[in-house]
Amino acid sequence: MHENTQVVIIGAGPAGLTLANLLLRTGVACVVLERRSRSYVEHRQRAGVLDHSATRVFEEWGLADTLLAGVPGDGTLEIRLNGEPRYLDLPALAGGRTGRVIPQQLLVRRLVSAFLDGGGDLRFDAGEVTPHDVDGARPTVTYRDPAGTVHEIACDYVAGCDGYHGVSRATVPAEAATAYSFDHGIGWITVLADAPPPRLPLFGISSHGFAAQFPRGPAASRFYLQCAQDCSPSDWSDERVWEQLRLRLGDKALPAGPISEKAVVEMRSFVLDPMRYGRLFLLGDAAHIITPVGGKGMNLAIGDANALAHALREALRDGDERRLDDYSATRLQKVWNQQEFCRWLTEMTHDAGDATQAGPFRQQLARARLDRLFTSPAAAHAFADLMTGD
Ligand code: APR
Repeated sequence: MHENTQVVIIGAGPAGLTLANLLLRTGVACVVLERRSRSYVEHRQRAGVLDHSATRVFEEWGLADTLLAGVPGDGTLEIRLNGEPRYLDLPALAGGRTGRVIPQQLLVRRLVSAFLDGGGDLRFDAGEVTPHDVDGARPTVTYRDPAGTVHEIACDYVAGCDGYHGVSRATVPAEAATAYSFDHGIGWITVLADAPPPRLPLFGISSHGFAAQFPRGPAASRFYLQCAQDCSPSDWSDERVWEQLRLRLGDKALPAGPISEKAVVEMRSFVLDPMRYGRLFLLGDAAHIITPVGGKGMNLAIGDANALAHALREALRDGDERRLDDYSATRLQKVWNQQEFCRWLTEMTHDAGDATQAGPFRQQLARARLDRLFTSPAAAHAFADLMTGD
């Protein structure tokens, strides 16, 4: 089957679905191809905070009422050092800029509904998605539908929103881009539990290692625990999880609850430069991976989608490709800014706690860095600025 459209979007995660909705609003025709089922995509639990910049994207495009109805704002961050709490009122420190606390699956569900309700073309269970001729004038994307029929869609541009392991990044020849990658040298395990959410998003820095707790809706929490780099979920019995969380968060009474997910988080960063190859543009995890410490993965993906939507509108409506040509450089500046911040935060939150890996000298440096947030208003403002925006 041969079809035509203006933009083929590969992948229906936060990046692809945001781009699809923004293009729908601009009148640019697009088709979204997603390898997984609708139910899988809508139930995948990952990120949970929209920073101010990402929230602004949805407000500016008139989508906030639909996507963010009933979603609370974010606020104060609690950092405990060996059980001693300290507080950072992020919106106040960032001049009133606030984000929203929304589980990724809720945002994804609403993005899917908004796109389909608006007449968008979103095809789940698309197998063998393959871009062709992206370095030519008229690329095509082929895929196989669940009935086995092969489709070929010709388009002006392809948006690769299919994550780090997707086909889009693999389409870029090695010699056409520089891949930067960094191993943070620590391990993390993440646990999702039906346990009451914390009163405030919480970082626990302790001599037992790092732990964090974030709300995931009204009755669930996502926890993170520093672990050995080669750790596996099987090393972490439920008893060990709760015991270590209580120690690291300095809360003997932390309520336990049924654990629904236990997984290793790769503490690795990656950036591909440029985020473009011919008529293929990369967004989100297809172009960059960031540690979850600062909660920036989903926000960067939404920022990419916003920049590309504006650029595609100008290219396809006005024939002006200047913004498209600037897409990669503009976004990479934001990406590196957040990579630096998340690396800084990772070092601080891990080195200040357990000194066995970093050594006592680096532990003192990290504690000085932490102290500065509570003794220097300028340092606190800079921190809040990065936490709330890009
Ligand atoms: N063909 C079609 N779809 C694919 C293919 C493929 N070959 N490979 C992967 N996909 C789909 C996946 O099934 C997934 O739905 O692409 C989507 C990619 O979504 P994400 O991995 O969520 O990536 P992205 O949209 O860039 O999200 C960025 O959101 O969850 C947060 O913090 C997380 O950093 C991440 C951010």
